[in-house]
Amino acid sequence: MADQDARNGEDKRPTGIPALRWEEPPEGPVLVLLDQTRLPAEEVELVCTDPAALVEAIRSLAVRGAPLLGIAGGYGVALAAVRGFEVEEAAAALAGARPTAVNLAVGVRRAQAAHREALAGTGDTRQAARAALAAARALHREDTEASARMAAHGLALLDELLPAGGHRVLTHCNTGSLVSGGEGTAFAVALAAHRSGRLRRLWVDETRPLLQGARLTAYEAARNDMAYTLLTDNAAGSLFAAGEVDAVLIGADRIAADGSVANKVGSYPLAVLARYHHVPFVVVAPVTTVDPDTPDGASIEVEQRPGYEVTEVTAPQVPVAGAGGGIPVAPLGTQAYNPAFDVTPPELVTAIVTEEGVVSPVTTEALASLCARSRQV
Ligand code: MRU
Repeated sequence: MADQDARNGEDKRPTGIPALRWEEPPEGPVLVLLDQTRLPAEEVELVCTDPAALVEAIRSLAVRGAPLLGIAGGYGVALAAVRGFEVEEAAAALAGARPTAVNLAVGVRRAQAAHREALAGTGDTRQAARAALAAARALHREDTEASARMAAHGLALLDELLPAGGHRVLTHCNTGSLVSGGEGTAFAVALAAHRSGRLRRLWVDETRPLLQGARLTAYEAARNDMAYTLLTDNAAGSLFAAGEVDAVLIGADRIAADGSVANKVGSYPLAVLARYHHVPFVVVAPVTTVDPDTPDGASIEVEQRPGYEVTEVTAPQVPVAGAGGGIPVAPLGTQAYNPAFDVTPPELVTAIVTEEGVVSPVTTEALASLCARSRQV
């Protein structure tokens, strides 16, 4: 088995790159985003002064990942309110910018509810804008705290599932500080294992077609000085067969009431592989990702992305040429199947780790009681 140098990646700067922040310069409040489409080549910031710019940033994946989409949605409503845009209209556009990650709509609704309530109570638009901003800030803070608690619960679970230690963890897509106010979801667990000396290797799926694993997870792993190795998504099977994977850790964009998990396309095949090879398949997500209003996997709307993301390579380092702005890798006019997510049924999920604790086995009843508990807190 090819095993790279334990510490790879050139950039060893510490983490702490904020994926987004609210700023109030003299020209007026703005939402500043780290443009994730440009990583790892460049760290470029995108300054959103109106909700339409944020909607575009969400659609283009400049800002992405379920928890961060929730936070961005909340700030988007606040931005609309403080800058005098029609708030209800902006909220609808933001919530509908991407359909699968339920956190986006949850974040938007929370700031929108705070705005509505303050407006109804006081009739003062400035006070209502302040209430929306306070709600977005609270969401941001809570996500940061949830991230730390998920990491602690996840690490305890890993130690329980893998008492021999020396965890070799496979992950898919990007679930670190680029998707969160804190250190993320699944990646935060791997990072906690690394810091406590228990992570032997982080296997990073490149995550076709937009390479969130290669571009973003490898970027975060390098900055944290983790022992990581990148693989093509197709190489995962042979890695399992070689006995090199002890656990799979992934995030989620929406968890239905029955425990079905929508996550980046390619997650379901990993769950099937994990089951065949008797490897735990663990999902790490905040409680806000559990959607009691979505009864099952079939009810989850899976976002379909443009075919050019498959027929062209749009890595940030390469010069642009094709219809989608990338280098064509398929004959002109080729049709592509490009769902952004897939759905893993609950019976293939070993455990769901949340900030409120671990659900295992994954059942409708266990998830419902977790949600009820979290609402009481
Ligand atoms: O299309 P993306 O990049 O927004 O997809 C992100 C993912 O699928 C993540 O795994 C998911 O949002 C969980 S992040 C904690």
